[in-house]
Amino acid sequence: MSLIEGEKEHILACVKEVLGENTKTRENLIPLLQQVQHKLGYLPSLAMEKIAEGVNVPTVDIYGLATFYNQFRMNPPGKHQVKVCLGTACYMVGGDITLESFERRMEIKEGETSPDRLFSLERVACVGCCTLAPVVVVDDKVEGKVTPTRVDGIMLALNEENGKAAAEQKPDQSEGDDNGHS
Ligand code: FES
Repeated sequence: MSLIEGEKEHILACVKEVLGENTKTRENLIPLLQQVQHKLGYLPSLAMEKIAEGVNVPTVDIYGLATFYNQFRMNPPGKHQVKVCLGTACYMVGGDITLESFERRMEIKEGETSPDRLFSLERVACVGCCTLAPVVVVDDKVEGKVTPTRVDGIMLALNEENGKAAAEQKPDQSEGDDNGHS
């Protein structure tokens, strides 16, 4: 995934800080990766390359470690994070169909982030609300009985929210038109 403006500098500063505060040994690689991920929200390739340089190990070893442990994520978290439960209870009532519905609507696969970084999609194990199966967690809010139709409704609400946020970021061109109103 390509980096956004200013992200390269942020990654380099973060890795430098973590390497500066920790023992730079092969044995300490997991804590180093954990700390960088904690700061950045994910492990970009650039960070892994810089950690490899700092610890003096081949970059391929860092990739190997990061991909072996599922605590590490290679893609940035989206503005909206959707987690589809595929625990047994949810799977039995169509959790996989719910996941496919999100994949189609977001045009990404599970584990990925949309290129505009608005959405990321993950599968998770039981989130403890089995009576509501199939369950989806949208930005920390639990949604129950999520059928494909409900997926449409969730995506509509998220897109509306994104549209509003984008509109609020634009300069107000109607300024001065509402004189007399406070
Ligand atoms: S299996 Fe999905 S909430 Fe328990």
